[in-house]
Amino acid sequence: MSEIYCKIVILTGAGISAESGLGTFRDAQGLWAQHRIEDVATPEGFARNPTLVQDFYNTRRHQAAEAQPNAAHLALARLQTNYPGQVILVTQNVDGLHEAAGAAAVLHMHGSLANALCAACDHRWTAPQVLSQDTPCPHCGTHAARPDVVWFGEMPYHMDQIFSELESCDLFAAIGTSGQVYPAAGFVDAATRAGAETLELNLEPSAASSRFEAARFGPATRVVPAWVEELLPSEDA
Ligand code: APR
Repeated sequence: MSEIYCKIVILTGAGISAESGLGTFRDAQGLWAQHRIEDVATPEGFARNPTLVQDFYNTRRHQAAEAQPNAAHLALARLQTNYPGQVILVTQNVDGLHEAAGAAAVLHMHGSLANALCAACDHRWTAPQVLSQDTPCPHCGTHAARPDVVWFGEMPYHMDQIFSELESCDLFAAIGTSGQVYPAAGFVDAATRAGAETLELNLEPSAASSRFEAARFGPATRVVPAWVEELLPSEDA
């Protein structure tokens, strides 16, 4: 077993859910090859055509509900449960596969498909399978429901807490993310400034690879369980 870290902060991206059958964004067949970001992932796109946006997220909500956590999600949940130090899970993903694998207190910085948000009163509730303009807010009754997903141009969630964790961690690992979208792409720099070790686990080098001290390349279902096994005391691996 390697050294014991007091606090490990892990950032995950779409790549960790790829082997669960959920699309990534920037791979060749990714979501942004099929849809224009400005049409389905911006407040302006939602204002222009709310039905198109609701349909886009209703489809992804259904796919996410059908998906199963894979060996990488399960390994991270095992690490969080059994590791002697603190393990903070931050995800850019809006699926619930970390929680389905048993992870706790996952910081969903881009929101969650499982929730609906009322644009009128900020109330959040468990989204119905199909969310539409006809869905009334259970709190204020207004028909202003939207997916509780952070769009381009909006402020990601939990940023103060995430940066506080990064500034006090001694290991930062990024898994399955292309390192192309800030602020997540800058987390490695905050961890480096804090004196933390940094590790990238990805299918292939990302745009941020040069800013990590170490990297392991391969499918998440192979490289993540192997990494977790090295971190855990043998009996917990
Ligand atoms: N195992 C590990 N990594 C993988 C796998 C796999 N099986 N398949 C793909 N990857 C890697 C790709 O090589 C890529 O580097 O996962 C990364 C996915 O990158 P993106 O599609 O850009 O997804 P992500 O980094 O999560 O995007 C960040 O951008 O569009 C916004 O809000 C959206 O949260 C998203 C954010």
